[in-house]
Amino acid sequence: MQTLSDKPKRGRPKKIVTTATFNELARHGWNSEPDVCQFIGSIIKMNKSANVLEIGVFEGETAVKMIEALPYGGKYTGIDINNYLKHDLKSFGTDVEFILGESITLLKGYPANHFDFIFVDGDHSWANILPEFKEVERVLAKGGIVAYHDTIHIADVKKLMEYAAHYNYNVITLNTSEGRGLSLIQKP
Ligand SMILES: C[S@@+](CC[C@H](N)C(=O)[O-])C[C@H]1O[C@@H](n2cnc3c(N)ncnc32)[C@H](O)[C@@H]1O
Repeated sequence: MQTLSDKPKRGRPKKIVTTATFNELARHGWNSEPDVCQFIGSIIKMNKSANVLEIGVFEGETAVKMIEALPYGGKYTGIDINNYLKHDLKSFGTDVEFILGESITLLKGYPANHFDFIFVDGDHSWANILPEFKEVERVLAKGGIVAYHDTIHIADVKKLMEYAAHYNYNVITLNTSEGRGLSLIQKP
């Protein structure tokens, strides 16, 4: 029986972590902040981006905003190694494709200059994001925009933005409501 002295001194009672709840906890917070979802949609609208890609779709919160922002005839492609989708993405737009697979391998299958907007929000490790960036650069159309999430609070993604700036890309980093950061790069 729990006595008063067993209770944590402050805050909420601790959640008991089993393997199943660990996976849940690890995934908690993977959704982009609502302001990021909205802003990604606004960029697509402002630029009239018609062929857009999201790397790392998770439950589909940002995907919905991206699809809703597309002009008539536009296409959304989402890539994820897992299917965590909570939304039926096809119910938000006509030309919607969700591809289960690993980003670098799948990107290699697209021709150069294919997408006019890319939101990168998948595996944030340096080992992944550097080779992924090389493919993102290749498949992004001239004048197209790539947005990277978590460029303030995840060191490897921040480092990638410094790397891109070193290679003469203009990188704009914005703070976001939870301080995770969103960076924009336009392909010259
Ligand atoms: C932070 S969540 C994405 C959140 C989503 N973009 C949003 O705004 O709500 C990261 C996602 O990336 C996926 N992921 C991780 N590594 C990946 C890889 N190498 N290729 C594709 N997707 C990957 C995970 O399965 C997870 O669903």
